[in-house]
Amino acid sequence: MKVFAHRGASGDFPENTKSAILEALKVDVDGIEVDIQSSLDDYMVIHDSWLDRTTSGKGRVSNFTAHELSKLDAGNGEKIPTLQQLFDWNNNKSLLNIELKHTFALERFVAQLEQNIEAKKISKANILVSSFDHHQLQWLKNKLPWLKIGALTSSIPINYAKFASDLNAYSVHADKTFINKAFAEDAKKRGLKIYAYTVDREEDIALMLEYGIDGIFTNYPARTKAYLLSL
Ligand code: G3P
Ligand code: CA
Repeated sequence: MKVFAHRGASGDFPENTKSAILEALKVDVDGIEVDIQSSLDDYMVIHDSWLDRTTSGKGRVSNFTAHELSKLDAGNGEKIPTLQQLFDWNNNKSLLNIELKHTFALERFVAQLEQNIEAKKISKANILVSSFDHHQLQWLKNKLPWLKIGALTSSIPINYAKFASDLNAYSVHADKTFINKAFAEDAKKRGLKIYAYTVDREEDIALMLEYGIDGIFTNYPARTKAYLLSL
């Protein structure tokens, strides 16, 4: 079962920041999950549309430029990273699962992705774009047929993972609360990976193993890896 660092190693470091990302790389995770939001002129690594919960700022991320946002404290004196900084720090070491939150101007996202592939900052195999907004995923998949996309859900759809196979997705990412054996088996039957979020407790990790889940997103990747090795 693969281990993804959720918002970086966010249990021990401020979520979606440089230290959380570097820590995830240090513990050799299988992938790093981050969230991105559009600023006025760039893509920022931050979960919420609003600055208030995780930074010293107030208001919507989309109302500021990256330069203005760079002055804010995102926890322990850290900055809100840009998408480009994420590519630079990772430098193709780990798979990046980029979750599109309130993102727009996706042509710019595609161009940035292609530039980074060209510059060998990231390989096609090491990128997985997910979203709860399946319209965005469909648009991206049409634009970049090689792109691995992950369809997010926080419910149990009637036809289990059909929505993800209809999108030609690589994976379905489901809230652990809504995963059951039938959902997991249906995803596998359709040739999809099934990943669960957010799984921090040993009891839940054990349950996901029992269901045959392919990977989990955890806020505590080091602890989770150690637990899995101990089994
Ligand atoms: O990508 C899995 C998970 O991160 C989705 O929920 O709210 O943590 O972004 P959230
Ligand atoms: Ca996320």
